[in-house]
Amino acid sequence: MRPTDADRRAEDTGLPLCDARALAERGKAWSWEVLEYGRPVRAFALRFDGAVHAYLNRCAHVPVEMDWQPGEFLDSEQRFILCAVHGAAYEPASGRCVGGPCGRGRLTALRTDERDGRVYWYPSHDIRPLASDPPA
Ligand code: FES
Repeated sequence: MRPTDADRRAEDTGLPLCDARALAERGKAWSWEVLEYGRPVRAFALRFDGAVHAYLNRCAHVPVEMDWQPGEFLDSEQRFILCAVHGAAYEPASGRCVGGPCGRGRLTALRTDERDGRVYWYPSHDIRPLASDPPA
């Protein structure tokens, strides 16, 4: 499908995701749905060491969602993103596998930005919003 003007604008300026205060340091993630190659998939954003990081909610070991409760991704010490299925551990800032059965895999990152008290995410060629028009 050819990108529309709205798609191009979203890639340049981002799409509003949530209020920045909704993401507490090492707290619960913000989850939403995107289209990857036209297929719906969940994504999540969390705050770690002050910065917002976002990934597709899909483990590199087996392509399943990873949160152990909705929006809860971090281990008990809040150091790693932990897959609830078999315990793969990922570095929150890079999405790189650092332990468990994810091997050399990494999470699929989504670009985010934080400005004027809001968090934005940036669609890409492969990962699009559910609707082609950004919310007003
Ligand atoms: S599915 Fe995530 S560690 Fe196996």
